Amino acid sequence: MTTTNILEFAKQLARETGKQILSDRQASLTTSFKEGVEMVTNADINADRLIMSRIKAAYPEHHFLSEEGAPDLSLLTRADESLWIVDPIDGTVNFAHGHSQSAVSLAYVENSQLSCGVVYNPFTDEMFYAEKGAGAYLNGEPIEVARETELRKAVIATGFPYIKSNLGPIIRRVESVLTQCADIRRLGSAALDICWLAMGRLDGYYESLSVWDFAAAQLIAKEAGAQYGHFSQVPKDIDPQFYDQDILIANPVLYPKLLKVLQEAERH
Ligand code: IPD
Ligand code: CA
Ligand code: CA
Repeated sequence: MTTTNILEFAKQLARETGKQILSDRQASLTTSFKEGVEMVTNADINADRLIMSRIKAAYPEHHFLSEEGAPDLSLLTRADESLWIVDPIDGTVNFAHGHSQSAVSLAYVENSQLSCGVVYNPFTDEMFYAEKGAGAYLNGEPIEVARETELRKAVIATGFPYIKSNLGPIIRRVESVLTQCADIRRLGSAALDICWLAMGRLDGYYESLSVWDFAAAQLIAKEAGAQYGHFSQVPKDIDPQFYDQDILIANPVLYPKLLKVLQEAERH
């Protein structure tokens, strides 16, 4: 099985899941809160089940890490085999509030490398995808990062955590970025933020996440010419591809400039 076949499978699966998500929102949604803070709806659970059952049927030997059905991060140690990293709905709060900025995110890892990534927004019918070494695409058209090089003209996206017990550093970073860049966006889906960066709608992105939020979009952004990294030290025993804290993504000219802004904010 080639990764091109896997990419096609993932695109079809994202589209099928997207249809289900749209019809679930038309029906009545039930909402609950994981550990009292993190929103989840019946549509998230249904989408996770559909994705897991399709992958298991097509590739019974593959491993499956997903936000709702199998959030077992120790599966990242199986990245040298065949591993899917799934966020069934990224942007659940948007989804539950009737906004259109939500997506299905499917990443496929082989030989410890992100090999395919698909991020599909069913509300706008935008399918972002990439295969390692083969470029990034939106609905069949190649995409690339914006060429903005000046901080003062750059629009930067970020997000905020569900748990609000340590907002100090987050506020300091927002203040620094807002002071030195054109503006900030908080759009509510990290996967789409990173894809929007990949196709030039945004110039920079930073946030702390979970691996399912950014695995697919990371590959799409890198294939579109973005630099991906972190504004804090990645622990030695963690593969940077999967390190979910203090992520920074931008074009290679803006990246070091934003890195400085974020690191200086850290010291204040
Ligand atoms: C969330 C979104 C949001 C980000 C949060 C994520 P979810 O994912 O990506 O943009 O700020 O950190 O948890 O919960 O909607 O899948
Ligand atoms: Ca998510
Ligand atoms: Ca989710």
